[in-house]
Amino acid sequence: MSPSRLVLASNNAHKLEEIGRMLASSGVELLPLSAFPELPEPPETAPDFEGNALQKARFVFERTGLPALADDSGLEVDALGGAPGVYSKRWTPEVSAEANNAKLRREMSGVHERSARFVCALALVSERGERAWRGTVEGQIAQEQRGEQGFGYDPMFLPERAPGKTMAQLSPAEKDAISHRGQALETLPAAIEALL
Ligand code: IMP
Repeated sequence: MSPSRLVLASNNAHKLEEIGRMLASSGVELLPLSAFPELPEPPETAPDFEGNALQKARFVFERTGLPALADDSGLEVDALGGAPGVYSKRWTPEVSAEANNAKLRREMSGVHERSARFVCALALVSERGERAWRGTVEGQIAQEQRGEQGFGYDPMFLPERAPGKTMAQLSPAEKDAISHRGQALETLPAAIEALL
């Protein structure tokens, strides 16, 4: 793959770190949105993850003229009808992981059916076209928070592929190997090949 530049259409430092880590050996330079301080936060008003990712990537591509990559992700809890879903970040007025995880513990208190998944939609938009796709990781909602790694709902999520551990108890490399973002990023080289 030839060296390329991509703007990440997000101000989320955790996403930048995880995607940057997974692109480290690809020859692709990932520029943070903060490199364009005049740009406002991209909108995300679509009803689904792919729609939001495309909306954010288009917004940045149209304003920078550079190929843009966006991540829209969240947690779907089956017993809560798929909530918090696309509202994962802003599920509580505090817009904080602490408040969101406290709400998740409350809503899931006494609930037997605890299946859930993390979803990550990625969208790549360039002058050659656009593409959106998703990765998922299946698991269960924990009874209590555990672990200090990762971010967001990680301390409350028990991935099927890491028995007995929450996502926040995995090392960065262990999380990358199974996470929704890691799964979605496996398709990125093909999208880069087609669109950059
Ligand atoms: P977005 O910035 O609108 O895509 O919102 C993403 C939100 O989903 C984050 O603020 C977290 O609450 C949650 N989320 C996404 N990915 C992860 C993850 O890898 N671990 C834990 N929570 C995540």
